[in-house]
Amino acid sequence: MLKVGIFGATGYTGYELVQILTRHRNTEIVFATSRAEAGSYLSEIYPQAPDVPLIDPDDVDNGGLWSKVDVVFLCLPHAAAAATAVKALHHNVRVIDLSADFRLRDADVYAKWYGHNHPAPELMAESVYGLTEFVREELPGAKLVAVPGCYPTSILLALQPILAANMRLSSPIIADSKSGVSGAGRTPKQNLHFVEVSDNFSPYSIGRKHRHLPEIEQVMGWWHSAPPSLIFSPHLLPVPRGILSTIYVPLVYAVEETAVRTLYETTYANEPFVKFLPAGKHATLGHAVNSNRCAISLQLEGQTLILTSAIDNLIKGAAGQAVQCMNVVFGCDEREGLVG
Ligand SMILES: NC(=O)c1ccc[n+]([C@@H]2O[C@H](COP(=O)([O-])OP(=O)(O)OC[C@H]3O[C@@H](n4cnc5c(N)ncnc54)[C@H](OP(=O)(O)O)[C@@H]3O)[C@@H](O)[C@H]2O)c1
Repeated sequence: MLKVGIFGATGYTGYELVQILTRHRNTEIVFATSRAEAGSYLSEIYPQAPDVPLIDPDDVDNGGLWSKVDVVFLCLPHAAAAATAVKALHHNVRVIDLSADFRLRDADVYAKWYGHNHPAPELMAESVYGLTEFVREELPGAKLVAVPGCYPTSILLALQPILAANMRLSSPIIADSKSGVSGAGRTPKQNLHFVEVSDNFSPYSIGRKHRHLPEIEQVMGWWHSAPPSLIFSPHLLPVPRGILSTIYVPLVYAVEETAVRTLYETTYANEPFVKFLPAGKHATLGHAVNSNRCAISLQLEGQTLILTSAIDNLIKGAAGQAVQCMNVVFGCDEREGLVG
């Protein structure tokens, strides 16, 4: 049994993680933290949660709990996650970080987009970017895994086959993404109130302003020799969960749709959590919500390739992908605990 600690268990991703780990046959939750709810049970906050006791994060140090776990999941805001990762690694505990702290490779880029210097820049190069489908060789035994962001997961899984094939593409690729409200976390904010969100549909941070932009472009640069630039426009969708991205890719020369379809079918043929849909079908939130699945569809219009990708932001975009990574890090069945 893997002994697991969860930091930030009362947040939306933390709660989702508890649900997944509760049905995982090879894990035992040793501790779960919350500063505000320490002393309560998770079931007092989420009625459907198991009776997991919540402790203050300081009690992990004070109670000598680092020696009782093999791995910790950080479901924390950025900066708090990095500080906790430093402690965990100091105690030889492996880290699966759901925050953005270890996704970027460049500390200056991090400082520009997150508004403060990175708390542990020396660790940035050590993390494995945990898009499991493409890092299965790097994950086993990894000490620090950066779980990809939710929007980046939906966009990068859709783009990978054409980028890795180094197809000649024009700029910009346009990713038009829509997320359910849980993507913003559990802390109340005015623009997330029911009255603001219900019967409404709003863009935010459109163009090249969202923090996930440098993360997506960084990975595009790993896969393509001359990656196009990206216009990334997120929207707040009045549903609790799910991300749907529609991505417009301008091609330099005409190709047959069947050739592109073959590329996707080949790439994802044996993937347990990526479903490439047949011609004429489009990915919808219904294909992905409440599962660790990413559904992808495509259509060619002249020299524009239109990709559609759907995930559950809290599962494939966060807690599910985190468990998928953990499974590979520790040599468990990659599908354990997860719904595909
Ligand atoms: N929501 C998503 O769809 C999604 C998807 C992918 C990645 N992420 C990332 O995953 C992380 C967690 O997201 P979330 O949506 O679950 O957030 P959330 O709902 O706001 O929950 C945050 C959790 O962290 C705890 N916390 C907050 N500040 C802390 C601090 N300074 N030190 C220790 N604990 C602290 C909170 O409890 P207390 O305040 O009681 O301690 C809570 O349990 C974030 O970095 C987010 O960007 C989120």
